[in-house]
Amino acid sequence: MSKVLIVANLKSYKNLDEAKAWLEEFSKYKDEIQSLQNKEIIICPSFPYLFSFSSVISENIKIGAQDISPFDEGAYTGEVNAKQIKDFAQFVLVGHSERRTNFGETEDMLLKKVELSLKYGLEPIFLFQNKEDTIPNGVKIVGYEPVFAIGSGNPDTPHNADNIANLAKAKGDYQVLYGGSVKSENVKSFTSKDNLSGVIVGGGSLDPEEFIKIIQNA
Ligand code: PGA
Repeated sequence: MSKVLIVANLKSYKNLDEAKAWLEEFSKYKDEIQSLQNKEIIICPSFPYLFSFSSVISENIKIGAQDISPFDEGAYTGEVNAKQIKDFAQFVLVGHSERRTNFGETEDMLLKKVELSLKYGLEPIFLFQNKEDTIPNGVKIVGYEPVFAIGSGNPDTPHNADNIANLAKAKGDYQVLYGGSVKSENVKSFTSKDNLSGVIVGGGSLDPEEFIKIIQNA
């Protein structure tokens, strides 16, 4: 049986002190999490904290970046590229609806982001919002995140998420995650579905204690 993936997307939250406090609290549960052989945790902090978060890396706790430049290294002021991210993370989120909407990320850009992730050995977690969305070649992990469910406290039904995951799996050999208002009380209803391999947690990951409960209940 493959592991249940639980991704923490910390978004653009936490300054240095807050990030340290999160790490300190999370680290108290590191041994317990390591003993959960059937679960894999991927924590995605903001870029400045990728290095500090590497202190929690273990066999089933990994680090991911929340974004990646659509360009390779070069004269692209302000960008953080795949080659740089690879030193700190194993995974990268691509295609989040917040980036598509607020930063005008197009399918072309997402394609480049995926290509560069793969070129440098990063595993892209490709997020899609509708069942019609195209998934770039080479992607193995995808996340279904309907816009209405993100940050709203109104998750999609596990039944619908499972159906969408099933449709995605008919198109390729993907591990499919669900994201959108996942909390400790509802996580199991998603992870227990046949076609879902795990969850992506935004708001519910900001408080380390709630995130630990999510991991325990998943
Ligand atoms: P949410 O966000 O858990 O706060 O709904 C999920 C996401 O945006 O990845």
